Amino acid sequence: MNWAVTTYDSAFGYVSAHGAPLVDLLDPQPGERIIDLGCGTGTFTAQIAERGAEVLGIDGNPEMIAQARALNPGLSFAVGDAHTFTTTEKYDAVASNAALHWMNRDPDAVIARVHAALRPGGRFVGELGGAGNCAELIAAMQTAWRVFGLGEPELPWYFPSPAEYAARLEAGGFTIRLLEHADRPTRMTEGPDGAADWVRTYAAGALAEVPPELVEPLLARINDLAAPALRRESGWVADYVRLRFAAVRKADTAAAAPEAPPGF
Ligand SMILES: C[S@@+](CC[C@H](N)C(=O)[O-])C[C@H]1O[C@@H](n2cnc3c(N)ncnc32)[C@H](O)[C@@H]1O
Repeated sequence: MNWAVTTYDSAFGYVSAHGAPLVDLLDPQPGERIIDLGCGTGTFTAQIAERGAEVLGIDGNPEMIAQARALNPGLSFAVGDAHTFTTTEKYDAVASNAALHWMNRDPDAVIARVHAALRPGGRFVGELGGAGNCAELIAAMQTAWRVFGLGEPELPWYFPSPAEYAARLEAGGFTIRLLEHADRPTRMTEGPDGAADWVRTYAAGALAEVPPELVEPLLARINDLAAPALRRESGWVADYVRLRFAAVRKADTAAAAPEAPPGF
């Protein structure tokens, strides 16, 4: 996945803005050791650090990590793939904002790596695109690709349903404390060319497969197709659907449950 790192923060700052309440769900405590998985340029990492936790931002993209280090000189960052990263010590929590849906190669492997990084009782708190996320944007892309004789665009995302992700978390050794799946229409305040800008930023890989002379007409068609659902008088709105969860790593060996008192 190639990210336009320099434009990422300024053009789509709302990705991070929406992470703000997630830090409250994570509830970092002073001195806790926390990983921010898929940290990007480190905005959410910094929010965690502000609560007094010791935080390590991990991201698969070296350019993101370089930018994160430049923007947050006092914080720790490392390049690592969420499917394979390992830690030498156990952490109190792993948090992830707007990143797990990009880790589409093997979601169970990501959950297994998070499990291995946590101490028993450690928290896994995240927010990702859920089933139905960006359905209008994706439908407009797929239709435009077909109209231009390009077949199906290759989409790089994993948008699970709550039931599917809950099953993966439980099979991966977690107890779920909270799971929400909610529409979150989001104004594209900094993406003035609407759906086209969204595709340029988030579907750059699919766009790179398109013959150069077709890119602009294709994007214009995507805007035409998406506008009835997503363009308001006040501007474009992305049809985001978010899946948010808080889970706890189970103990390695469950203690025998005490017997219920008579009559319970
Ligand atoms: C939309 S950004 C979110 C960044 C940040 N969490 C925030 O709230 O602004 C998604 C990030 O996930 C990272 N990412 C995608 N796949 C990854 C993987 N397999 N391992 C680690 N990071 C990955 C990308 O490089 C990108 O920085």
